[in-house]
Amino acid sequence: MQVKKIYALAALGTLLYSCSSNQATVEDSNTEVAATTAISDEQHRLQFHFTPPTGWMNDPNGMVYHNGEYHLFYQHNPDSTVWGPMHWGHAISRDMINWEHLPIAIYPDSLGTIFSGSAVVDVKNTSGLGTAGNPAMVAIYTYHDAEGEKAGRDDFQTQGIAFSLDNGRNWTKYKNNPVLKNPGIRDFRDPKVSWYEEGQKWIMTLAVKDHISFYSSPNLIDWKLESDFGANVGAHGGVWECPDLFKLKVEGSDEEKWVLIVNINPGAPNGGSGTQYFLGSFDGNKFVMDPQFEASLNAKPAVATTVVGQEGIWIDYGRDNYAGITWSNVPKEDGRELFIGWMSNWDYANVVPTEKWRSAMTVARTLELVNTPAGLRVASMPVKELENIYGTTKTLAAQTVSSALDVSEKLSMNTSTFDLNLEVEPVGAQSSFAVELSNAKDQKVLIGFDATRGQYYINRDKAGENQFSDKFTGIQYAPRLSTDKAFDLRLVVDVASVELFADGGKTVMTSIFFPDEEFTQVRLVADNGELKVTSGQMTELKSIYKPAN
Ligand code: FRU
Repeated sequence: MQVKKIYALAALGTLLYSCSSNQATVEDSNTEVAATTAISDEQHRLQFHFTPPTGWMNDPNGMVYHNGEYHLFYQHNPDSTVWGPMHWGHAISRDMINWEHLPIAIYPDSLGTIFSGSAVVDVKNTSGLGTAGNPAMVAIYTYHDAEGEKAGRDDFQTQGIAFSLDNGRNWTKYKNNPVLKNPGIRDFRDPKVSWYEEGQKWIMTLAVKDHISFYSSPNLIDWKLESDFGANVGAHGGVWECPDLFKLKVEGSDEEKWVLIVNINPGAPNGGSGTQYFLGSFDGNKFVMDPQFEASLNAKPAVATTVVGQEGIWIDYGRDNYAGITWSNVPKEDGRELFIGWMSNWDYANVVPTEKWRSAMTVARTLELVNTPAGLRVASMPVKELENIYGTTKTLAAQTVSSALDVSEKLSMNTSTFDLNLEVEPVGAQSSFAVELSNAKDQKVLIGFDATRGQYYINRDKAGENQFSDKFTGIQYAPRLSTDKAFDLRLVVDVASVELFADGGKTVMTSIFFPDEEFTQVRLVADNGELKVTSGQMTELKSIYKPAN
C-alpha cells in the first residue's frame, strides 16, 4: 500500500461508543457516518483482513449467514490490547471481505464472561424464542466464571444461550441460563451447534479437556449427552478447544464424509496453537473415524509427506491460524463450507507489536474434501469474493530462473497487498525455491519448498521485529501432499501476513510478521538448480478501507 491515508468505516464510531458504554444501542447500524479516523495507516494494520478497530481480539465466534449478511462475532476485550474479560464483538459483511463493525453483541453477566461459541438460525422455531415468520438467531456460548475459577472450583465453565430477533442487532440472554451445566471438568467449552437433519435435532460439539463430547437437543435448551470422542487419537500436546462438525462432499463423487475439527493449544506441528481434524461418519449419536484416515493418523508418513507433528492431520501448518470454525446457515444453493480462523498463536498473541489493536482473522476460506496420494484431505482456498478487491493484474512471462527473478521489477508492481499465482517446476530433484518478500532494510520473509526435506516452509526469522517473544522465530514446515512435478502456488499477502495455498489448497500455511517497512519487493529465488516458471499472475489487492479524497 503506497497511499495510506484512509477513512475507516463509520461504524467504528459506534463500536467505540459501545466499548465505553455498557449498553449496546444502535440507531441504524447500516448508516455510514463520516468518520475520519485513519486507522489503516497504523503500522502493521492489515488492509483487507478483518481486524478489530481497537482492543483485543481472539477466536472467531458465532459465524452465521442470515438475510444476506455474514455475521462474524469474535472474542473481544474492548478495554485493553491483551486478553481479559471476554465479550462477543460483532461485524457483518455481504462478501466476507468488506466488513461493517457493529456494537458489542454479548456482554459478560453474573454467570461469567463470554467465551467462544457458535450461532444458528432456529428456522423451525424449536426453541420458541422466535416465531415461524421471524425465527430467532441463537448464540450458544461458554460462560467463564472467573470467580469460580479463582475459588478453586472445577465447574466454572457452563454453556449459555442468547437470542436476537432483529438480524443480530440486539441480543437478549435466555432467562434460565446456563442451559448446560458443568459436570466438574475444568475445560468444558466452545459449543459448536448445528442442525442434524436426519435426526431432526440439534447437535452440540463441545471441547472437553482432552476429548469431544456430543450433546443433542430438540430445542437448543435441553441437552443430552450422546457420546465422547478422541481421548486417545490425534494430537494431545495441549487442551482441545473450539471444535466443529460438518459434512463435506468427497471430490468427484456423491459420497459425503463428516469432518470433525479440533483446535488444540499447545501441540500444533510448528509449536503453540493449531487446527487438526478427523474424517469419519456421524449418525446423530457417535463420530466414527474412517479406517483409512485412522490408518494414516497412525502410520509413519512416507518421506514425500513427512509431517512435522505427525500425530495429527492439520488444516493449516503455519503458526497463525487458530480456533477456526465454519459459518452456519449458508444457503443450500451456495453449498460452500466457509471457514475463518484467528491469525495468531497463543505462544505470542498478547505481545505482538501492534499498538491500539491486536490480531486479525485469516482470509475467509472454502473447505473441500479432495483426493491426495495420502488419502482424502481437507483443502482450503480463499473465498472467490476476494476478487471484489482485485486491482491491476499483471502476467509473468514463462521463463527459466537460474538464481533469482525480481518479480516486482519485472512487473513494475511494488505493493504489499497482493494475490500471487505461480506455476513453477524445479529443474533437478534437489532444487529448492522460494518466494521472497522484502523491504529496503533487507528484512524478508521466505515462503518456499525445501527439496531436501520434501516440505514447504516459511521463514520469518529476519522479517523485522521479533524480540517480543522467544517463541516467534524458527522455520515452519509443512508436508507436500502432491506428487506433481509442477508446483501450483497461491500466496495471499497483506502488510503483515502471508497465506500460502499450495497444490490447490492441499497444503496451507498462514504466518504473520512485523517488518519496520512494508514488504513491497517480491523475488523468486532458485536454490541449487534452476526453476522453470510456466505461468505467473500477480494481482494487487485493494484496501477495504476507504481512500481519502
Ligand atoms: C481458544 C480459547 C477458547 C476460549 C477462548 C477464550 O483460543 O482459549 O477455548 O473459549 O479462547 O477467549
